[in-house]
Amino acid sequence: MNDIAFLLNGTPVRVSEANPTRTLLDWLREDRGLKGTKEGCNEGDCGACTVMVTDDTGSRALNACILFLPQLHGKAVRTVEGLTGPKGELHPVQREMIDRHGSQCGFCTPGFVMSMATAHRNGATDHDDYLAGNLCRCTGYAPIIRAAEAVAGQPVPTWVKDRPAPADGPAPFAPETSDALADWYEAHPDATLIAGATDVGLWVTKELRDLPEVAFLHACRDLQKIEKVDGGWRVGAGVSIAALRSAVSSAHPEFAELLRRFASEQIRSAATIGGNIANGSPIGDTPPALIAMGATLHLRRGGARRTLPLEAFFLDYRKQDREKGEFVEGITIPGNAPDLACYKLSKRFDQDISAVCGCFNVTREGGKVVAARIAFGGMAGIPKRAAAVEAALVGRDWTLATVEAALPAFARDFTPMTDMRASAAYRLESAQNMLVRYFHESTGAQADVLEVQA
Ligand SMILES: Cc1cc2nc3c(=O)[nH]c(=O)nc-3n(C[C@H](O)[C@H](O)[C@H](O)COP(=O)(O)OP(=O)(O)OC[C@H]3O[C@@H](n4cnc5c(N)ncnc54)[C@H](O)[C@@H]3O)c2cc1C
Ligand code: FES
Ligand code: FES
Repeated sequence: MNDIAFLLNGTPVRVSEANPTRTLLDWLREDRGLKGTKEGCNEGDCGACTVMVTDDTGSRALNACILFLPQLHGKAVRTVEGLTGPKGELHPVQREMIDRHGSQCGFCTPGFVMSMATAHRNGATDHDDYLAGNLCRCTGYAPIIRAAEAVAGQPVPTWVKDRPAPADGPAPFAPETSDALADWYEAHPDATLIAGATDVGLWVTKELRDLPEVAFLHACRDLQKIEKVDGGWRVGAGVSIAALRSAVSSAHPEFAELLRRFASEQIRSAATIGGNIANGSPIGDTPPALIAMGATLHLRRGGARRTLPLEAFFLDYRKQDREKGEFVEGITIPGNAPDLACYKLSKRFDQDISAVCGCFNVTREGGKVVAARIAFGGMAGIPKRAAAVEAALVGRDWTLATVEAALPAFARDFTPMTDMRASAAYRLESAQNMLVRYFHESTGAQADVLEVQA
């Protein structure tokens, strides 16, 4: 087996690691003594472990706690220890954090500065968005945001402009094409596929699971394409949520806004659309939107391929229509869906899993509903269409009276559960209210929580 080879703070390193699910965070702290990268939650939530990872597609802030070493092959990693220059010069982010009092206990600070330095390198100025995955419990965010604003526009120091390490040899545990993946997985159907590892990472760090046989998908570049096809786009399973968000921002602004609320910058940069679908979570954010759009799913096992409407893939709680050795190859989404609206209800605005996610695509002609696709996450054991609600709308006038008459149908479509995120009654009522909101928005009323003012 090949070594895992990458650049660490500008220096080439080779790692012979037999355990494919050893995390970068553990390796940095335990094997390299680089303890500046902190362990807070160890589940991708707090950002204390943020590092900068660069490959030939650019630089990203990622959570080292749920990043497995093989995912770094051929890339460049920069940790907080590599943020100062060769002569000890402070990075502008460090200087501004000091000058603007952006740190108190300092536990979160390495993660913040790595997120800020990556954004600075990329020219990003949406400070609230890219820092949503970094949690600070004592300083408060205002001084940190002031530091981020002060850094924007200052030159990027040469020493953080990593170039990825040229990979000599294939990545271990990682087929390099979807054909190679298909052959391998057909022969090893009990193996675990790992794409972005934002779900699988937690199986390892929180559930302490051993994964005896794995294949990483990140080296399959052919799964990372977004291609124009008849009537829409074909999105490869390996496309990250971040890449999808930027690709759909003009054609599907509502979907793109939902994706902005998907976890955090660090998670969106790692997580894939294929992982979000294959995982089969009842509270995954992309399936309700994709179902409402009428997306089709592409599955592959060996040389055999099949396509099905996305809603047909989800059979029961954590049970999908996927054979052993079959993987998600991609998804086709329509080129436009002008009536689409997506509402994510969660306890926090940023970096939170949905309690209820409702997506509506109701087509009207001449004041009448001619088609309706409505899908929810968080309302059943699977992402599910609201068939009875749709039936109560189609063919009727698009009026508040029609909408109100359709509300009881929610209880026929869904028997939601009570859990720590929401009670069953709250879920049902919020789902109904989302339809009412959708109606009012369709008539031009302003109901965006970010825009509505008292
Ligand atoms: C802090 C945090 C916040 C999160 N917030 C959100 C959120 O707001 N909304 C949301 O929807 N999710 C959220 N998630 C969950 C997670 O990020 C998503 O489900 C993500 O899309 C998973 O993609 P991945 O590439 O990381 O999958 P992985 O973790 O690599 O894999 C997930 C599952 O899918 C399988 N798999 C992956 N790719 C394929 C494929 N091509 N074919 C077949 N099987 C495959 C894996 O074997 C595994 O079973 C969050 C996770 C964390 C840690
Ligand atoms: S330790 Fe909290 S995100 Fe990694
Ligand atoms: S400075 Fe203490 S947690 Fe941020």
